[in-house]
Amino acid sequence: MRNFFLFLALFSLNAVARPTAPGNTQIAIETQRTALVIRVNKEGDPTVVHLGKRLQNSAEYGLLSDNNKRGEDYTNLYNSAYTPAGSRNLLEPALQVAHADGNPSSDLKYVRHETKTVADGVVLTTVFLKDPQYPFEVKLFYKAYQNEDVIEQWSSIRHTEKKTVRLQKYASANLYVPAKNYYLTHFHGDWAREMNPQEIQLTAGLKVLDSKLGTRADLFQPPSFLLSLNKPAEEETGEVIAGTLAWSGNYQIQFEVDPLQNLRLIAGINPYASEYMLAPDKEFVTPAFLFTYSNSGKGQASRNLHRWARKFRIPQGEGNRLTLLNNWEATYFDFNEEKLTTLFKDGKKLGVDLFLLDDGWFANKYPRNDDHTGLGDWQENKQKLPHGLGYLVKEAEKAGIKFGIWLEPEMVSPKSELYEKHPDWVIKLPNRAEYYFRNQLVLDLSNPKVQEFVYGVVDGILTKNPTLGYIKWDCNAVIYNAFSATNPNPTHLYVEYVQGLYKVLERLRAKYPTLPLMLCSGGGGRVDYGALNYFTEFWPSDNTDGLERIFIQWNYSYFFPAIAMCNHITDWGKQPIKFRTDVAMMGKLGYDIVVSKLDEKELAFSQQALQTYSRVKDVIWQGDLFRLISPQTNDMASLLYVSEKQDKAVWFSYLVGNRYREGSMAPIPLKGLNPGKKYKIQEVNTMPGDNSPINRNQAVYSGDYLMTVGFNPVVDARRTSVVLEISEQN
Ligand code: GLA
Repeated sequence: MRNFFLFLALFSLNAVARPTAPGNTQIAIETQRTALVIRVNKEGDPTVVHLGKRLQNSAEYGLLSDNNKRGEDYTNLYNSAYTPAGSRNLLEPALQVAHADGNPSSDLKYVRHETKTVADGVVLTTVFLKDPQYPFEVKLFYKAYQNEDVIEQWSSIRHTEKKTVRLQKYASANLYVPAKNYYLTHFHGDWAREMNPQEIQLTAGLKVLDSKLGTRADLFQPPSFLLSLNKPAEEETGEVIAGTLAWSGNYQIQFEVDPLQNLRLIAGINPYASEYMLAPDKEFVTPAFLFTYSNSGKGQASRNLHRWARKFRIPQGEGNRLTLLNNWEATYFDFNEEKLTTLFKDGKKLGVDLFLLDDGWFANKYPRNDDHTGLGDWQENKQKLPHGLGYLVKEAEKAGIKFGIWLEPEMVSPKSELYEKHPDWVIKLPNRAEYYFRNQLVLDLSNPKVQEFVYGVVDGILTKNPTLGYIKWDCNAVIYNAFSATNPNPTHLYVEYVQGLYKVLERLRAKYPTLPLMLCSGGGGRVDYGALNYFTEFWPSDNTDGLERIFIQWNYSYFFPAIAMCNHITDWGKQPIKFRTDVAMMGKLGYDIVVSKLDEKELAFSQQALQTYSRVKDVIWQGDLFRLISPQTNDMASLLYVSEKQDKAVWFSYLVGNRYREGSMAPIPLKGLNPGKKYKIQEVNTMPGDNSPINRNQAVYSGDYLMTVGFNPVVDARRTSVVLEISEQN
């Protein structure tokens, strides 16, 4: 009974909002619509007291209760902004270290903070923390992108202790959200079946998303998630946080429903086998965790991330991309100069901007005629290409298109001259049998000599062929037998691999800032905003079946913008070419087909489609995405890209089931248009000779009508994919 009264007393205390105690510091990290509020409590600990909608009057953040107590926080640390381990903490820490004297505990007290505008619409807040017992400091960084409602958050660790400090866990972000329930959508996959969503209600305790693959964050589990608060968010309703870690290696994201039923989120590099020895005066900077909060559903969250990515992250995110013809599925390893020059002409006939020569063009002692040999030996194969890459660049240019190549510079075949010359550059254990992923091994990018080699390979090719127009940078293996023969700190390998890769990419980008670079990884195993700092586009999956791609692209679209998504039309799927083309148009379109095998009608359709694409691509690449009907739960998929000015839109709809009379039975209400504007709807991408039922009707509709009543794109078993161009009428 006494406890009951105590509970009531606590409850009522909590229910009445209390102003901040004098001396308390409140740090509001705000964007246009979001706020993350950190309060320094009486003990000097930085705590998260709000994450969600921004209040109109920021003074009222002071009224927020200390940690949404629904019971007792024995530690006063449950809502820490960076939970230190080993002292009072009872839950998952963000930071775990062993100090130079062996002491395994930390405590982090607020020292000061500063806020400055670092670019137009970008405000950086830095919170300085220090351990009262040690010369050990942590900085928490929060970059708030005002217009995009995205917060980029990371930390850095530095000390001046007498000897090395062992960092055992060093998260990028530690957040705290109170809600009634939490619904996590995470994604899982494998080769050719990437990005399958799964939504679960989080229960008390921990749920962990992670990767231990070494060279890539995803493949099995990408580092991106949607977290709905209170109830599952829909496209246009509900509270949701879309989060992703910008790191291409082992990562860990933990969701902990704590004893107070609040959610603690900790995201960063995976501590697995990654203890980091931090020398005095050196700074360890963690990768960024990115998130956006939306109280109007997943659609808004995606649009926020897309806008942010195009403006601030992806090189030339607001620029152009090249359409291309790739020869991988058309020839595999079997080609020569003659075959290729014919393909250049085919590419030109089709109407693409560039020809991309895929795997198999290199290595002589162990020629790359299949995927067992030659990786690492980046010299043109003399038999296939006696006149070298330079000749091909010229021949392509003569045919009127640009030329690009495939590279996989982080990898090595066991049968290669590189391996023979530099066995100590290869990641493997001295006393264990080699184990291969796609018959190959990974180079030790934690070794500066290897970094130099990889840089030299790419720079060498680009210096020799200055008009080379494109590189597809592949990464087809994970790290087995993780061990570096040269790294003085064996447990640094995983971390320094990724840092080494970024160093190389940084140098390449400095020298070649506008070169289009495709991020590929045996399918979509490497799609993250760490790598997308350097790459203009990514390869979502080797699975290019049109139907499968609707799902794969749909799920990537929660986090990544269309301009960066390479969608190629191939023969993998058996759908008509129109279907495959329509699907590929929902991003950066390319081809991987034998053009000469297209019949007359298919060729004419494709040539026309490329022209249509060049007219509408800016709406797709730069527009706002509205997902209308999800293929996950319907027999149809439908989505719309709307230009920022709301004067143009491109609307894609597909039939994804095959039951009798499935399709668009009724008008579909559109989104994102301007209610006051008038629009005309025109079907595009029809096969030559096909009459569109849509184009017979020349009505003009208001945005209000289209968004309230809707429009039927007439999708059925005969019209399995429909692309409609919506244009404003004056
Ligand atoms: C990976 C890529 C493919 C192709 C092959 C070449 O699987 O995803 O597109 O480039 O490698 O070996």
